[in-house]
Amino acid sequence: MPDPGPGPDPSSGPDSAPRYPNDVVEAKNRDLSPDDRKWHTVALIADSLPEKPAQRTVPKSQIESEDDIAMEVLVESRVVAVFRHAGQWYALDGMCSHQGGPLAEGVLRDGCVTCPWHGWQYDLATGIQMINQQPLQESFPVRLVEDRIEISID
Ligand code: FES
Repeated sequence: MPDPGPGPDPSSGPDSAPRYPNDVVEAKNRDLSPDDRKWHTVALIADSLPEKPAQRTVPKSQIESEDDIAMEVLVESRVVAVFRHAGQWYALDGMCSHQGGPLAEGVLRDGCVTCPWHGWQYDLATGIQMINQQPLQESFPVRLVEDRIEISID
């Protein structure tokens, strides 16, 4: 009988998306197209901050700058940390997988956020913890649409 070869690599998917070997994080909607996702507005973009904002508002000047941005938002009872870092937008579960530290208050550097409580670091794009390389922190798609910042968590 011929050798069937090594078979598929269980550590890699059909594309470059990371796999989730320990099922800590399920990538429920990773393969959905943007049109098939349910999007939640997490912040409005406005010329200036309203006196009594009914919703989180980010000044347009901040969006137009190249500064990093971090904010904590609540989406359907989930705490989510939304970041802009080096010009890219990201969203991760806002509560650190270690002991629930507030990731939106973490330091952004080299594509990672460092939790302010004990220093665990997560890749912003994937939620992979940088030391053990496990996908411990769920990540979500983010988009800017007109005057809104939206994320998809479903
Ligand atoms: S709670 Fe985040 S590193 Fe401990």
